[in-house]
Amino acid sequence: MFRLELLVFLLLRVAVCTAAFVHHVDRKNKHHRHHRQSSKLRYDAVTPLSELQCTSYDSLQKEIPSSAQIVLIGEGTHGTEEFFRIRSELTKHLIESTGFHAVICEGDVQPFYQLSQLSPRDNVLQGLSDIFEHHFPDWMWNNVPMTEFVSWMHTRSKQQQLMGMDIQSPFHSIDFIIEQLDELGDQKSMALAYECYATLNSFRQNIRRYGDAVYANKVPSQASAVQKVVETLSEIYADVEDSKTFELLHNAHVVAASEEYHRQRIFPGHSAAWNTRTKAFMDCILRLRDNISRVKQRDFNHESTSVKLIVWAHNSHVGDMRSTGYASQGQVSLGQLCREMFGKEGVYLIGMTTYEGTVRAAHADRQGACWKGKGEVMVLKNGIEDSHEAHLHDIATKMTEESGEAAFGLNLKGTDQDIASSFDCSRLERFVGSCYLPQTELMSHYSHCNLANQFDYVFHVDKSSAITV
Ligand SMILES: *[C@@H]1O[C@H](CO)[C@@H](O)[C@H](O)[C@H]1NC(C)=O
Repeated sequence: MFRLELLVFLLLRVAVCTAAFVHHVDRKNKHHRHHRQSSKLRYDAVTPLSELQCTSYDSLQKEIPSSAQIVLIGEGTHGTEEFFRIRSELTKHLIESTGFHAVICEGDVQPFYQLSQLSPRDNVLQGLSDIFEHHFPDWMWNNVPMTEFVSWMHTRSKQQQLMGMDIQSPFHSIDFIIEQLDELGDQKSMALAYECYATLNSFRQNIRRYGDAVYANKVPSQASAVQKVVETLSEIYADVEDSKTFELLHNAHVVAASEEYHRQRIFPGHSAAWNTRTKAFMDCILRLRDNISRVKQRDFNHESTSVKLIVWAHNSHVGDMRSTGYASQGQVSLGQLCREMFGKEGVYLIGMTTYEGTVRAAHADRQGACWKGKGEVMVLKNGIEDSHEAHLHDIATKMTEESGEAAFGLNLKGTDQDIASSFDCSRLERFVGSCYLPQTELMSHYSHCNLANQFDYVFHVDKSSAITV
């Protein structure tokens, strides 16, 4: 019974895909004949989403240089269903056809580690909800599309991994380190960890108070204390090849970065804290890359096995910061650091935008801060006039008239630059994180960006919906 349903579903899907594709090609040819110039240029840079989906994102996959070591996939909000689905689909294709090794997410290291410990027999839905319940913003990972993606990852070999890179909470990492040292029977390091983490640990109720307390001279900075754990554990365990010792050191680095991040958060503009977090992302990626590469060399005895990684994070992290207004505040982004380190051919940056719809996000508190609360479905205002979103909306509107479809991929680096070059200029662009403030939208969520420098490719979903949880 189940098989039959699946078969019917698959056949239907093929039929729908074929129809959409034929329609598109047909339309393309017609335009080609009638108004050769404008239409040809237009369709080379823009591909309807349905066509990308039916062709396994082939035209996009071809754009990614074969030398790319890292593909970063962004999102313009932290609560959009379509962004999550496109990102998962594309990632599956990259893993299946191009052999990408791991997906690294903008979520804390520990919950993702716990996720990796779930067995394929476990209930993923329950697992996600248990793991992410206390990690704001919980809807970012405890949601329906994520359940599907994790289940899919479980069908793959252990070679591919799903990992976190964020440093928001040091406490889960502290607990993990103590636990591991206990298991290893390393009483000496355990006593040291207890001692070095004691002050930081006293802020368990509210880590945000730590920076204030240091600033007010109520507690000394814990920078050297957390660093001492890193150094001590490195001396003992750096050369021990074992999954647990890797995690041990990895988490000691996470605690150190998290301490620095929360100490710097109190400074206005948050630029120092932002950059500490960005650098922590990069360090985390490099550590994982080295570890995977070492395992590959050991297991396959390859000399130069390059490791290919996929990163899921917000557009603000993925886009090249040098083309945004945030650069003037001295902020750097992960996409920028990757371009600087791996070169333009070594990295591919993908962004995702939307014009209107609904989004899942939290309300801000009275001070405008947002770091806890429930994710609620909110109406996302239309993109403001002359923003990148408004110009992408114009393309979507024309597409809707012709084909009824309003979502597409835009290649910003292709040879045919007619449409793409019209995004090579500075305009406002919207950034919605875990919190959405419609009343102060322009000030809270928009920055000037050059879209064509910021990304290599952009998905635009003109009307999007809040992620289902
Ligand atoms: C790190 O390397 C060890 C082998 O030394 C391996 O067992 C473990 O799975 C690796 N961890 C990650 C997250 O790549």
